[in-house]
Amino acid sequence: MANTILVGAQWGDEGKGKIIDVLTEDADIVVRTQGGNNAGHTVFLGPKKYVLHLIPSGILRKKKVCVIGNGVVIDPVSLVGEIDGLLKLNIEVTPKNLLISETAHLVLPYHRELDAQREVLKGKNKIGTTKRGIGPAYGDKVSRVGLRLIDLINPERFAEKLKIRIKENNEILKAFGAKPLSFKQVHDAYRAAGDRLKPFITNTVVYLHHATERKAGILYEGAQGTFLDIDHGTYPYVTSSNTTSGGACTGSGVPPNKMDRVVGVLKAYTTRVGEGPLPTENAEISDLLHGMGREFGSTTGRARRCGWFDAVATRHATMVNGIDELAVTNIDGLDTVENIKVCIAYRVGTKQYDHIPNDVEVLAKCVPVYAEFAGWKTPTDKITKFKDFPAKTKAYLKAIADLTGAKLTIASVGPAREQTIFL
Ligand code: GDP
Ligand code: IMO
Ligand code: MG
Repeated sequence: MANTILVGAQWGDEGKGKIIDVLTEDADIVVRTQGGNNAGHTVFLGPKKYVLHLIPSGILRKKKVCVIGNGVVIDPVSLVGEIDGLLKLNIEVTPKNLLISETAHLVLPYHRELDAQREVLKGKNKIGTTKRGIGPAYGDKVSRVGLRLIDLINPERFAEKLKIRIKENNEILKAFGAKPLSFKQVHDAYRAAGDRLKPFITNTVVYLHHATERKAGILYEGAQGTFLDIDHGTYPYVTSSNTTSGGACTGSGVPPNKMDRVVGVLKAYTTRVGEGPLPTENAEISDLLHGMGREFGSTTGRARRCGWFDAVATRHATMVNGIDELAVTNIDGLDTVENIKVCIAYRVGTKQYDHIPNDVEVLAKCVPVYAEFAGWKTPTDKITKFKDFPAKTKAYLKAIADLTGAKLTIASVGPAREQTIFL
């Protein structure tokens, strides 16, 4: 397989987990490069549902190596829980098929607590985070006061550094009126997790360098989506990492000239979970999808906000990620819709936008300009070949790919592996 970066081209939950699982068949190695356990990637194997948070979705395939790269922030207690959960389901997870970067940063309990307290303080301006401590953990990394896995597995150094961090963070928590943390409790729980994880922890940059040299096929698994990117998203309603394709390089230590292609995953419509503008948000499609029991968050269980396909956004995503190929998922979600709308531009007063405006207050005022497509009004979930799609489905898929500006190569009509059509 060509070295592939897979990104979410919308606001997250595009169906990346499913597409990663499918593409892993042809890969040797799957690497997570950013984010933390805010992610929730769903994969179905037969009737069995797996939701991966930190471990790459490639873990469900035998004889593949999964890597958690340096750009990821790791809650080690939660990661041990995820490993144990997979072991219970008879999925193999050993230091042979899971490698964890020693320079990945730790998410600590004060990060989670601060995440929650800041959201309360923000009141109606809250971000709607997953409360997994992601923002404060990346904040500490950038402020150069973070602790890394390499510290966690060095007992003396970990105790020394943690003591200082708990002291400072307890002062901050006190100011919020929150309960201070016990050094001993945090220390003991994290050290126990560190002992469990130690055999998995290694220099993944060197490992990936050697793998690249020997021409292994590597799939870089993105988490979240383009418009949750800390630089290119709808700031401040974003997550705290680079979710766009550049994040795959910095988060793995593999340089851009070793990457061959970028695959953008997108839904045939749009969803977002959490606060922030969503220009095409629409009650009709929200009610329809929620009524079908779909579009509830895989990490927090929150109902996702739903809207029509936003080609302004996906075109922008092609621009900032360099998307070559598109994987469109959840086509079957539109099977019953009479008239399908696609946003082709935004308007604010007399001004028209064909890209996402940077000012989030302007974006919030954007009114979509829609093109309409006749719905196909027939189930697509059993279709296995592109030629068997109704003409109206083909026309819709061709239109959204053309508007997005990349080549459609995968069409997904259901959560299962078999419900995937390659073009
Ligand atoms: P991710 O975070 O991008 O991996 O996406 P999530 O797993 O959070 O959410 C995507 C949801 O869509 C999951 O419940 C998947 O099982 C489901 N899914 C993915 N592709 C399809 C599809 O083509 N059709 C249907 N019906 N469900 C899909
Ligand atoms: P996957 O990988 C969808 C959203 C949160 C919130 C914002 C910031 O499953 O696509 P954070 O906890 O990261 O500080 O929250 O980002 N968010 C996601 N939305 N899918 C995700 O991951 C997300 N991870 C974070 O809802 O709006
Ligand atoms: Mg998800």
